[in-house]
Amino acid sequence: MGTIVAIDGPAGSGKSSTAKLVAKGLGFVYIDTGAMYRAVTLQTIKKNIDVKNIDEVTKVATEMNIEFKWIDGEHHTFVDGEDVSRKIRTTEVAELVSPVSTIPAVREYLAELQRKMAKEDNVVMEGRDIGTNVFPEAEFKIFMKADVRVRAQRRIADYQKVGQEIDFEQIVEELKRRDKIDSSRKHSPLKKADDAIEIDTTCLKFEEQVEKIIKIVKEGSF
Ligand code: DC
Repeated sequence: MGTIVAIDGPAGSGKSSTAKLVAKGLGFVYIDTGAMYRAVTLQTIKKNIDVKNIDEVTKVATEMNIEFKWIDGEHHTFVDGEDVSRKIRTTEVAELVSPVSTIPAVREYLAELQRKMAKEDNVVMEGRDIGTNVFPEAEFKIFMKADVRVRAQRRIADYQKVGQEIDFEQIVEELKRRDKIDSSRKHSPLKKADDAIEIDTTCLKFEEQVEKIIKIVKEGSF
């Protein structure tokens, strides 16, 4: 097992963009576990399966093949060979991903897949439960948080990238709703691990938070 850097936190806390650059800076493999839950949700929508149908959603999760690839400096997600990078970022997927990710069998399957993906490499893995559930023994655990309105501004920029214009207050509500489901679910909820270092990115510049985490890993301790 290589070195694991676990980065957890709520939607819009800056996790994804930070984790990608931290991985590049350290030469580690980057694993976006949120993209995996989103990919399962997208397949569920495509197949017209009700997210309440636990057995069917679990079947979709266990039968699909998820891969990540870097293409021209951009991180892409593939499902059964199709590039779904844009489709998994739409509001339709965002609305249903939290209920999908409350299903214990889906979580157990994806967590095992995440452990396998990290088997032979040094990795930066980002999500909600990496430091608490997937790799409780990770050497480095970061928990990122930020004010909900700052997070909403960041999400607007994400949606613009996939061509969706969304009202600011609507995003604030979506984030609050997702935070609530993600933090209150029974199985591996969004929660800071006791031994994680907390970084509040509300007032931090992006480059500062990337540098901060790279320094922590390079110096070998918190
Ligand atoms: O980070 P994100 O917004 O792409 O994550 C999408 C959803 O996936 C999030 O609302 C909760 C779920 N998720 C999870 O439950 N556990 C993870 N490790 C990562 C994401």
